[in-house]
Amino acid sequence: MLVSAKEMLQKAKAGKYAVGQFNINNLEWTKAVLLIAQEYKSPVILGVSEGAGKYMTGYKTVVGMVNGMMEELNITVPVALHLDHGSFEGCMKCVEAGFSSIMFDGSHYPIAENIEKTKELVKICADKGMSLEAEVGSIGGEEDGVIGNGEVADPKECKSIADLGVTMLAAGIGNIHGKYPANWTGLNFEVLAEIQKLTGEMPLVLHGGTGIPEDMIKKAISLGVAKINVNTECQLTFADATRKYIEAGKDLSGKGFDPRKLLAPGTDAIKATVKEKMELFGSIGKAE
Ligand code: 13P
Repeated sequence: MLVSAKEMLQKAKAGKYAVGQFNINNLEWTKAVLLIAQEYKSPVILGVSEGAGKYMTGYKTVVGMVNGMMEELNITVPVALHLDHGSFEGCMKCVEAGFSSIMFDGSHYPIAENIEKTKELVKICADKGMSLEAEVGSIGGEEDGVIGNGEVADPKECKSIADLGVTMLAAGIGNIHGKYPANWTGLNFEVLAEIQKLTGEMPLVLHGGTGIPEDMIKKAISLGVAKINVNTECQLTFADATRKYIEAGKDLSGKGFDPRKLLAPGTDAIKATVKEKMELFGSIGKAE
């Protein structure tokens, strides 16, 4: 059964580790993430962007697939199904479809409007037992058409949003979606420390997990980050493994064109990436 991300993230914050949010795109992605979480006894969050939700034909399909897979694969570790960077309308659709967690990305609104809309969703999520992520200061880069400027959040605004009763808070600290440019100056730990000081127990969320050096990830966790989002890295390793299979001409030999064979190296590559991240984030064995 899907669970809210509240308990797993509060435990992670207290235990100084982070739970990975791995974005899913299709059946292979979902299966790979669930199997690794179960094998390594890690709690996990499946992230679904609005674009990925559309690609999979809608949120109801996603809920049906994930619930079915959890039952058929005997997944017993805590799993949250979470809308990533949702609009207000997208959040409402996911509440109805049976997600267990949503992110309302109101970071592009003036702070007063972000607060108003977040407040409404706090009520709805409390009624349904769902977790809610809010965002202050947009995350840089581009993800499924949502573009941010690599902003750094204002710690006082973070406190105002945290006080509304959200479950977890994403704050821009110089992180960006996708690959980091060569001239990236790194995460802003002073701002992160300030946010953590003002928001206390609130689990903080680090978006743009792809390509952040290991020492920065560890430092971010030590400063209160309890959820780290990874999307692009699984896409890159999947594409790389699939390209190698095709370039080696394996699809042309025997039944190598069978999608179950063609997509297997990419699926294994996602599994390896997810395991590596869970090790780095410290979540392995935490669901035992
Ligand atoms: P990356 O694609 O950079 O890993 O970021 C993922 C993310 O933050 C999803 O919200």
